[in-house]
Amino acid sequence: MGMPVKSMKDLFLVTLRDIYYAEKQIYKSLPKMARNATSPELKQAFEKHREETDKQIDRIESVFEQFGASPRALRCEAIDGMLAEAKEIMDETVDEDVCDAGLIASGQTVEHYEIARYGTLIAWAELLGKKESSALLRETLEEEKRTDRLLSELAMGQINEKAAA
Ligand SMILES: [Fe+2]
Repeated sequence: MGMPVKSMKDLFLVTLRDIYYAEKQIYKSLPKMARNATSPELKQAFEKHREETDKQIDRIESVFEQFGASPRALRCEAIDGMLAEAKEIMDETVDEDVCDAGLIASGQTVEHYEIARYGTLIAWAELLGKKESSALLRETLEEEKRTDRLLSELAMGQINEKAAA
């Protein structure tokens, strides 16, 4: 993990480095996902979430600062795997509507990972008495939840039916 984990603060920072890496990779992947989306609403959802992700990265940097640590990313194999799968779907799915359904599924897998991570980080920040940090992380958690809900709505609204037709 690049550092010995001797305390809850260390564990918090290791996890923060993991999500810092994840957000940066997501930020890099979202333009390709937006380009490959056919539904204008889905395209827009990915574009909007890219802007949000940019701010989420800034929030993580603020949290590092509040913990007296410099921002450092720690490679997260989980997110690398999820994003590699999203790329595979984009590269191998021929039908546009089926590709949209696959992109939504990939997007939601990533969102659920982030929701799990931020939930943990918020709980640990509170445990460590870092109220400002937990408030910042909570803002991000709410954005991830909103994005997840929006993707569900898009899938259920039309995209899945079109893909199945
Ligand atoms: Fe995020």
